Amino acid sequence: MRLFRAGDGSKWNRWCLRYAAAVCLLVSPVRADDACPPSCICARDSGTVTCRDGGDTEVPGDIPEWTTTLILKGRNISTLQRGAFAGNGTELEMTTLSLSHNEIQVIEPHAFLGLSRLHSLDLSHNRLKSVSAGAFHGLLELRSLYLNHTVLPPAATQLTNALDTRSLRNLRRLELAGNRLQSIPLVRLEIYDLHTLVLINNSIVSVDSENVTNLYQQRRVRVYLSLNPFRCTCELEAFYFWLKNSSQCPDAGHLLCSEPEAKRGLPVEGLRGDDVDCMNENLEAVSYVFLGIVLALIGVVFLMVLYLNRGGIKRWLNNLREACRDQMEVYHYRYEQDSDPRLANVAV
Ligand SMILES: *[C@@H]1O[C@H](CO)[C@@H](O)[C@H](O)[C@H]1NC(C)=O
Ligand SMILES: *[C@@H]1O[C@H](CO)[C@@H](O)[C@H](O)[C@H]1NC(C)=O
Ligand SMILES: *[C@@H]1O[C@H](CO)[C@@H](O)[C@H](O)[C@H]1NC(C)=O
Ligand SMILES: *[C@@H]1O[C@H](CO)[C@@H](O)[C@H](O)[C@H]1NC(C)=O
Ligand SMILES: *[C@@H]1O[C@H](CO)[C@@H](O)[C@H](O)[C@H]1NC(C)=O
Ligand SMILES: *[C@@H]1O[C@H](CO)[C@@H](O)[C@H](O)[C@H]1NC(C)=O
Repeated sequence: MRLFRAGDGSKWNRWCLRYAAAVCLLVSPVRADDACPPSCICARDSGTVTCRDGGDTEVPGDIPEWTTTLILKGRNISTLQRGAFAGNGTELEMTTLSLSHNEIQVIEPHAFLGLSRLHSLDLSHNRLKSVSAGAFHGLLELRSLYLNHTVLPPAATQLTNALDTRSLRNLRRLELAGNRLQSIPLVRLEIYDLHTLVLINNSIVSVDSENVTNLYQQRRVRVYLSLNPFRCTCELEAFYFWLKNSSQCPDAGHLLCSEPEAKRGLPVEGLRGDDVDCMNENLEAVSYVFLGIVLALIGVVFLMVLYLNRGGIKRWLNNLREACRDQMEVYHYRYEQDSDPRLANVAV
């Protein structure tokens, strides 16, 4: 490298050296303090690190300390391991973590170790098959948790356990759209500070009265429930009155019945009280049972009559048989009388 050889007397070369040194001075502080992880873009002003579409199957290990927002997208991270973001065990400043579209399948216990300042966590559009009960431990400041289109059926029960942690006591917004959930995956509502619960586009057929009672008790929570296949029978009664009474469901007007066939497509709110009245439905069931019993009784009485008259019936049957036999004998006799002359003719 002729350019950088010391002792070269030429003016031009000295200028070049100085220029190179200046560039080095400008660049080096950033690089020396905290390097930007490979295939990421670092914006120190906003504290944002964005990593997209790397072939990586791991979370970048060297996230700068100043990071407040980390966005990972389009990676193939199949397992979020314990302390995936913790580096060497120090608490991070990070407040926003977006992990959507990363093919995450497994979340191990304490995966978010060191993120006690995190406010927002987005795990949408992954393919969660397994979520440890301790997955969300330590997220003491978490306000918003997004889990849209991400939970596969085998992980639904595990998710209920994972969410049932006092670590999430500051959780205000929980989004669970498009997960084929069959019930509200929260055991106790009172442990959170929940204001918004989004359950749009799931497989919730009914909300039982225990859940409804709990929702009434958490007056500030708003629950979004459109695009669920409600079964509009009397089991929906408590829920129906909650919809009408509580104004806790902002999209109540969009909830539709999917069963029974006769009510498919009808708005749940548009049903009449009678449609979901269990007394009504029970009465109907009772009347069918009653009809059945009456028919059975009639049958039994009929059989009894037959049985009690068995003597008379026997006599009648005997008479019938005898009458038949007499008739047959008459026929027989006539046949013999007719056939004899014919036989004689043939013989002749
Ligand atoms: C993601 O990684 C797993 C192994 O960790 C591999 O089996 C799978 O094919 C990868 N998927 C894609 C889309 O690269
Ligand atoms: C590890 O922790 C120490 C302080 O305990 C810190 O100075 C250092 O930067 C950390 N290293 C990484 C890679 O996070
Ligand atoms: C799902 O999560 C995203 C965040 O990734 C959010 O912006 C969106 O509004 C959520 N809701 C639905 C219904 O998709
Ligand atoms: C509902 O969720 C399913 C996945 O569970 C998705 O394929 C579908 O597009 C969603 N529908 C709407 C209207 O968002
Ligand atoms: C909702 O109902 C399910 C199933 O009956 C139950 O396990 C769960 O604890 C209930 N949750 C609330 C908040 O009532
Ligand atoms: C509120 O719910 C109760 C049953 O819990 C019902 O009797 C009453 O009619 C409801 N009120 C309204 C305005 O729907």
